[in-house]
Amino acid sequence: MSPNVRVGIAGLGRLGKRHAQQLGRRTPGALLVAACSPVAAELDWARDSLGVQTLHQDFDSFVRDPQLDAIVLVTPTTLHAEQAIAALEAGKHVFIEKPLSLDVATCEQVEAVARRHPDRVAMVGFVRRFDPSYAQARADIEAGAIGQPFLVRSQTCDMNDPQGFFVKFAPTSGGIYMDCSVHDIDLARWMLGNPRATRAFASGTIAMHPGLADCGDVDNGLAIVEFDGGARAVFYASRTMAHGHETSTEVIGTAGMLSVGVGAHRDRLQLRDAGGLRHRVLADFFERFSEAFQREMDTFVAACRGEGKLQLTLSDSTEATRIGQAITRSLRSGQPELVQ
Ligand code: NAI
Repeated sequence: MSPNVRVGIAGLGRLGKRHAQQLGRRTPGALLVAACSPVAAELDWARDSLGVQTLHQDFDSFVRDPQLDAIVLVTPTTLHAEQAIAALEAGKHVFIEKPLSLDVATCEQVEAVARRHPDRVAMVGFVRRFDPSYAQARADIEAGAIGQPFLVRSQTCDMNDPQGFFVKFAPTSGGIYMDCSVHDIDLARWMLGNPRATRAFASGTIAMHPGLADCGDVDNGLAIVEFDGGARAVFYASRTMAHGHETSTEVIGTAGMLSVGVGAHRDRLQLRDAGGLRHRVLADFFERFSEAFQREMDTFVAACRGEGKLQLTLSDSTEATRIGQAITRSLRSGQPELVQ
């Protein structure tokens, strides 16, 4: 049996705490031995709730910590690429939350560094690929269940947060398409067999959160992407749903159609009464994808131990950024934009 992987996590915010809990308590073969955050209270949380012994406020000392085999980055998006490069150069395996970078050339730089360290695992967190329903959809497509897939319609819709967490987050998130639709973009490429994207059109609106205007962002965005060979994808992202989180995807092919997640049902329970027929809905992305987050981290740790080869590559992340950036440019220019 390969030895346990000694992991350090950087970033203990909204998602970082979740990853830390999974790594610390439930990921086979992983030992969460160090954490890094500039915020002392977050490090206290890691020590008190997970027993993490080595705490770093400074990323440079963290990344050089000799006890670490692997580093998990759940830091603000604008730091991912430079921190990933530092981790690889320090000889660590690295898991990077999505997106890899907001800039295509920077993604390519990370790819180049990873190529110089072929024995190190470098993986970006496109969590939906690890969701059992999405994985089944992909397997069904490969088996020919819907003929030739040619259209993906996919959405990421979050319940409205009256506090507007994402408004504060907007300066580093890259905007709604890079933050939310990047998942749908990756899914579309995966479901369609990785065709080359050629052109993007986008439009959006601010329905509820005027603070987003300062960053040129919107709280509801639509986009169409064209691919070589005729396939098309339609994306919708929203921060303002009244009912809950609703991520769903349809893949339409020449002999059928697959859909994942339509309806946002939390479970299989329904209530029928004088008010009608109702079911509970999902509160947020973590409730929807908690199992996928666990499988994702299990996959990363297994790859670090030399068990299993990753299907998801850094180049998939670069392509998602390339498409997400063309969509974002189109939102701002009001014109169709080439994906380049
Ligand atoms: P957050 O703002 O809640 O957390 C960021 C964390 O990074 C904080 O703990 C902060 O103290 C820490 N940090 C800031 N600068 C640092 C530095 N120089 N070194 C180490 N730590 C530093 O943000 P959130 O929502 O947790 O997002 C983090 C990343 O995760 C983003 O890139 C986001 O795109 C991604 N994400 C992915 C999701 C998915 O579905 N896969 C869902 C939510 C977020």
